[in-house]
Amino acid sequence: MSVLELRNISKSFGNNHVLNNVSISFNEGEIHSIIGENGAGKSTLIKIIGGIYTHDSGEILIDGKKVELHNPLEASAAGIGIVHQELSVAGNMTVAQNVFVNHEPTKFLGFVDFKKMNEMSAEEFKKIGIAIDPTALVSSLSVGMQQVVEIVKVLSQNVRILILDEPTSSLSDKETNNLFQLLDLLKSRGTCIIFISHKLDEIKRLSDHVTVLRDGNFVGTLEKGEYDENTIISMMVGRDLGNLYPPKAKQRGGEVLLRTENFSRKGKFEDISIEFRKGEITGIFGLVGAGRTELAWSLFGADSHDSGKEYFLGKEVNFKSPNQAIKAGLCYLTEDRKGNGLFVGMDVKDNVVVSNISDVVSPAGMLQSNKITEVARKYIEDLDIHPDNCENFLVKSLSGGNQQKVLFAKWLYANPKLLIVDEPTRGIDVGAKAKIHNMLRELADNGLGIVMISSELPEILGLSDSVAVMHEGRLVEVLENDNLSEQDVLSRAFNQGGEEHE
Ligand SMILES: Nc1ncnc2c1ncn2[C@@H]1O[C@H](COP(=O)(O)OP(=O)(O)OP(=O)(O)O)[C@@H](O)[C@H]1O
Ligand SMILES: [Mg+2]
Repeated sequence: MSVLELRNISKSFGNNHVLNNVSISFNEGEIHSIIGENGAGKSTLIKIIGGIYTHDSGEILIDGKKVELHNPLEASAAGIGIVHQELSVAGNMTVAQNVFVNHEPTKFLGFVDFKKMNEMSAEEFKKIGIAIDPTALVSSLSVGMQQVVEIVKVLSQNVRILILDEPTSSLSDKETNNLFQLLDLLKSRGTCIIFISHKLDEIKRLSDHVTVLRDGNFVGTLEKGEYDENTIISMMVGRDLGNLYPPKAKQRGGEVLLRTENFSRKGKFEDISIEFRKGEITGIFGLVGAGRTELAWSLFGADSHDSGKEYFLGKEVNFKSPNQAIKAGLCYLTEDRKGNGLFVGMDVKDNVVVSNISDVVSPAGMLQSNKITEVARKYIEDLDIHPDNCENFLVKSLSGGNQQKVLFAKWLYANPKLLIVDEPTRGIDVGAKAKIHNMLRELADNGLGIVMISSELPEILGLSDSVAVMHEGRLVEVLENDNLSEQDVLSRAFNQGGEEHE
């Protein structure tokens, strides 16, 4: 039965028409996915259901009755719970406080029962198979775990309509699997689940219905059995994408740009000796906790290391700050674009030039605003950032995937020799993803060295010239990517079979 129905919903921001007459019906006991390119209007639609934005026209019905949801509290009272795309957990509160914010268990006289709250919270995490210290501060957790907290926070509210906007973008495979099992369970109990993702395998695994949006328009709803990847993709982008990955490096064995010897940071990674070369894309794969991001942070000078050596462009270096690394020609595109990648409250053009500000300063020391705009426009065009006149927009008003592209522009403008990209296509739709892959290959062909950390195995296999596999802080093996299989890489990531590196 239809629990939630949207009728002819329209919404504009200024003269940007983001949703045009969108009608969708969502049933109880079903998982209904929404898919569409970056900026198609998915998150906006969800925020309308959640009472965060008001729609310009159209109706929302719950159980067949028209409702007005003026704010998130009213939506929540109507049984709607939303896990938003951008994290909203409070870093300075504990895990349990985050989960039970506004509905804390209380004791006599209304005091918060912390003991009970911690126990209840541990119980909630157990449901999705995750052991976590309920008293840990959320800021001390990895992005992936913060995402888990965000999800558990909503799950603990026993909602009737559960909406998840790209919930798995920072989760490991295991966490994702646990979440999906829980979604299956909630579905069997009658919960109506709305699921947004760019990952087609997730969509296929979960969905009873799939609705495709394109440029704010409803394209169609498909039922299980009716859809496959190609149908979905062509409905999303209005064309076939063909081969999704670019060819491999034309030449291998170029100059070594960065090299480490026994590089170690206690408790994070150990004894890493590796080389990254000009003109090549080296993938780094490992399960969550393998130490990939930690290694990148230390190479880039955002963290220290305890022992071992780092050589960049033939010279031994010891970067004490990211600034020193950037000046030398080493850049790092963060996996946490909101936390430490972009200034979301500033406009697009200032975010693009900030990594290389001296380039837009006149000989007299003045910022040249014309040049800043020109640079921003070039990247907006090159990277196909939407909307295409967004140089003066605040970054936070762009869709998630377009924010990611702004992050790319920022680092490309710093003109690096070696670029480390950490989860470069997180939150990017299939079409734009192929463009970013092609762009990375083109940059490598033009002499840039690229190190790509990614949790998506198809992306690692599709794009990398060689794959460095890490397991619990150690480098297991660097594999040349001549038709590597998922199994080749995964068995090493789990450190099964292969050689033991004790
Ligand atoms: N607060 C806002 N102010 C102005 N424009 C906005 C605002 N929020 C969203 N938009 C615009 O609405 C459009 C749709 O954005 P939305 O976030 O809904 O896309 P999306 O489908 O969720 O994309 P993604 O897959 O990248 O997350 C974009 O063009 C975006 O720039
Ligand atoms: Mg979105």
